[in-house]
Amino acid sequence: MASTPTPLQQLDERFLLHPFTNHDEMHAHGTHVIVSGSGVFVQDAQGRQLLDGLAGLWCVNVGYGRTEIIDAVAAQMRQVAFYPSFFNSTTEPAIRLAERLARLAPPRLKHTIFCNSGSEANESALKIIRGYWKLRGQSQRTKILSREFSYHGVTIATTSMTGLPSCSAPFDLPLPGFIHVPAPHAYAADRESDPVAYGKWCVEETARTIEREGADTIAAMFVEPVQGAGGVIPPPAGYLTALRALCREHGILFVADEVITAFGRLGEWFASGLWNLDPDLITLAKGLTSGYLPLGATMVSDEIADALRHGGYFAHGFTYTGHPTTCAAALANLDILENDGLIPHVASNIGPYFQEKLRAFAGHPAVGEIRGYGLIGALELVPPGGKAALTPTMTLGVRAAALARKEGVIVRGIRDIIALAPPLTIAREEVDQLFAAVRVAVDRIWE
Ligand SMILES: Cc1ncc(COP(=O)(O)O)c(C=O)c1O
Repeated sequence: MASTPTPLQQLDERFLLHPFTNHDEMHAHGTHVIVSGSGVFVQDAQGRQLLDGLAGLWCVNVGYGRTEIIDAVAAQMRQVAFYPSFFNSTTEPAIRLAERLARLAPPRLKHTIFCNSGSEANESALKIIRGYWKLRGQSQRTKILSREFSYHGVTIATTSMTGLPSCSAPFDLPLPGFIHVPAPHAYAADRESDPVAYGKWCVEETARTIEREGADTIAAMFVEPVQGAGGVIPPPAGYLTALRALCREHGILFVADEVITAFGRLGEWFASGLWNLDPDLITLAKGLTSGYLPLGATMVSDEIADALRHGGYFAHGFTYTGHPTTCAAALANLDILENDGLIPHVASNIGPYFQEKLRAFAGHPAVGEIRGYGLIGALELVPPGGKAALTPTMTLGVRAAALARKEGVIVRGIRDIIALAPPLTIAREEVDQLFAAVRVAVDRIWE
């Protein structure tokens, strides 16, 4: 035990199960209790201020402590904290938010059903897709394509889509009918000398999988425009356009999982716009409320919405679908993104600055690859023997994240990767502070 656990840490150990945590390891040191947040900083129970280089969990886009959201939530709660959208009812914030999203999203997507998380947004998409094909008389289209290194959530079905064995193997998933194709992760495939050629091969391999499975048995393909939790994998040139065309050619619905990439992280409201993906569905969460309250959304094309609307009783939705208070939080959050000009700020100011600082690690002997886009980035770390000497248990990224924490910044360690995604409100000096701490961590990783 690093130090005597506080009473709160003791209660935590006895009563609280944490998501994505090795409990034995955590309690050897005591859990890390965060007590407050302001701007890009959070403060822990020991009184330490930490620069949050991961925006909570890739989500606190407008930073902490925004009174506009807090006030909107309080006002909505005073008026009516909750009323469902089931059975012909709803509340004003749900309607207003759906309309607002329709204005911001790619042109064919004008219809939204809400939920409470990214997992539920994808789960809803899966059910809508199944229902849609049944209504269209093609109920044999049930299989789902997704990619290795993808992360789509934690329900049984979304874990099945997720292309990370560490998430699926403990539960004996994926379920049958969830098919994984290669991701354009050239570094992991030792093809980093020509990522574009590797991306082309990935599309060809996806085409072969479609051929083998039978195109008319495949319902949809789920794609994160930039893969996030799997290791921050931006698409190589030409890859997403070719993948989109392939799905269209075979009548396979294309779902953009924009749970991380929407609402400014890449300098656009929706990453789909950056690559002209024209998706049939988009799934959203995280930056929709900047994490102030849990809210997810599934947006669907006019064609899918028409089928559902005229297809009889639509038997799907959560108690909290269209929750007025979470929708009020989202509306206030979108106001901030818009009024503070945060999306163009990421595109032409802080995003390029962040990428410049990230790429300054080029040539560092402990850095094997640098990836990023907008305000998301990753460093692949290597041991003294270089990439060839990596072993699965080294987890250099996890160790580097711990070193960075000692320097007062929070980053995410994923395998041998340091991942960064700070709030969009981060100032240049704070970017400097973030990377100064990351440099100390990277410099010390061989010690
Ligand atoms: C791309 C993507 N999809 C889905 C999810 C699942 O979202 P949630 O954790 O809100 O269920 C995540 C979470 O990190 C994500 O990054």
